[in-house]
Amino acid sequence: MAAVEPRSRLYQADRRGSTPVPDVPLNEAALNRRTFAIISHPDAGKTTLTEKLLLRGGAIHLAGEVKAKGERRRARSDWMKIEQQRGISVTTSVMHFIRGAVHYNLLDTPGHEDFSEDTYRTLTAVDSAIMVIDGAKGIEPQTRKLFEVCRMRDVPITTFINKMDRETRDPFELMDQIADELQLDVTPLTWPIGVGQDFMGCYDLVRDRLLLIGADRMESVEVDGLDDPRIADYVPERLLDKLREEAELAREACPDFNIDAFRQGHMTPVFFGSALRNFGVGQVLDALEDYAPPPRAQSTDKRTVDPLEDKVTGFVFKVQANMDPNHRDRIAFVRLVSGRFKRGMKLKHVRSGKPMAIYNPILFFAQDRELAEEAFPGDIIGVPNHGTLRVGDTLSETDELRFTGIPDFAPEILRRVRLDDPMKGKHLQRALESLAEEGVTQVFKPELGANWIVGVVGQLQLDVLAARIEAEYGIKVTLEPAPFETARWVAADDAKTLDTFAGSVRSAMAHDRDGNPVFMARNMWELNHQLQSNPDIRFTKTKERA
Ligand code: G4P
Repeated sequence: MAAVEPRSRLYQADRRGSTPVPDVPLNEAALNRRTFAIISHPDAGKTTLTEKLLLRGGAIHLAGEVKAKGERRRARSDWMKIEQQRGISVTTSVMHFIRGAVHYNLLDTPGHEDFSEDTYRTLTAVDSAIMVIDGAKGIEPQTRKLFEVCRMRDVPITTFINKMDRETRDPFELMDQIADELQLDVTPLTWPIGVGQDFMGCYDLVRDRLLLIGADRMESVEVDGLDDPRIADYVPERLLDKLREEAELAREACPDFNIDAFRQGHMTPVFFGSALRNFGVGQVLDALEDYAPPPRAQSTDKRTVDPLEDKVTGFVFKVQANMDPNHRDRIAFVRLVSGRFKRGMKLKHVRSGKPMAIYNPILFFAQDRELAEEAFPGDIIGVPNHGTLRVGDTLSETDELRFTGIPDFAPEILRRVRLDDPMKGKHLQRALESLAEEGVTQVFKPELGANWIVGVVGQLQLDVLAARIEAEYGIKVTLEPAPFETARWVAADDAKTLDTFAGSVRSAMAHDRDGNPVFMARNMWELNHQLQSNPDIRFTKTKERA
């Protein structure tokens, strides 16, 4: 494994802007990219782990910087009023850091109240994910939801069972839960030595090592297997028998780690640790380097694009808008798929067919943002624009192709839009259609009734929506409860079957912005009932953006 360096020479030169950037071959640069997200339920330790990963990557120097930085940024930026009012960050941030030869792009998946469709879409832009589980709680609802999105693209998942320094559930029980609920093959690569106050580290099941929490860094002791008597020099007797018995059982009962199964999304390696105590973090980074895939090929409407193709391509997975009506600027987050991107390059904006010169692409480091002189497959660049770029858009050096797999997600919160001034109906329609195209919300026109219905996956998305309708379009609206809880796109092999179904639930039918039929259910029970009663109808939770 390459030595740990704070930042590669390439980037130091790059960042000073004066030294020419040495030409790294495309294949070497791409193979060394790891673009990943952390999926977890709030409070499982995502922020703490992020911080520790960035510390390892030399991207930050003091623990506490991730949060502290967020606060500083909020204090000085005029990004979104809501962000300030609520004291939370709406931005899906991207953090680029380097360890040894490997460039990591960590894409944040906003969790707490700022959970939104962006959280899901971010997962369409990663090549692997780390699933952080609180050892005392096991798999929680948000983790499951995010996992399902990962599964849609068979994104490989590395599991980190956190908070081993506290009392936890039995490790076997936790692994069974992952296997049963997520239908994954589970294989522990380390095994905890003690838990709670007794937690003193892990046994490395792959390389037969003791990994021990030291005073200021992890200590690693090579041994000759679990029966090696030298283990007793390090592990007290009361923990030793249990370790031997459990680790042996884990080895026998769990399948061997298989990198192909992992990369295909069928198997998850499991690490135990404590983000707070900075233990286990190195193993996770090593696993990302050794096992997680480099940038993957991506599907388009025409063909699959390989990352090593010469021509630059990429897609927009998120747009960050400025709430200030005087500043209509936006930043589009573009995941590069192929080729060597250089600043100033002209790329075709495929949806409009127009060329776009990218003069000010931004590369996001943990502590600052820099102009990206060049970037490679897997990297995320921020492209400032005035509303041209929308979620799902493709940028391409030559080809007329459109990346697929950046869908709309079935809303989990539905609201009826009531206009304070009923004369502004046409204005409202335009505003909603434009915001829906941008990916801020989804909008549905019920077959019966005049009010639009908007759909989002997180509460904050609603607040952003109402605020933007007012700030940018000068329309006051109230978002009131709709009698529906969830929605699904519906389709059938023949039009008659679909018509018959739609006719039987007319008051629950609507059309999305592209005219596709949508069934809105009052609750999950009703949805399940319709699913069972209508086997010829396909109910889908995602829809490709048109
Ligand atoms: P999140 O981003 O997933 O929401 O979780 P975050 O890292 O903010 O962690 C949630 C709480 O759990 C924090 O405590 C954090 O210190 C704690 N925590 C994270 N990892 C570990 C761990 O390995 N062991 C233990 N014992 N605790 C851990 P807090 O009191 O809510 O916040 P703070 O005041 O410490 O920031």
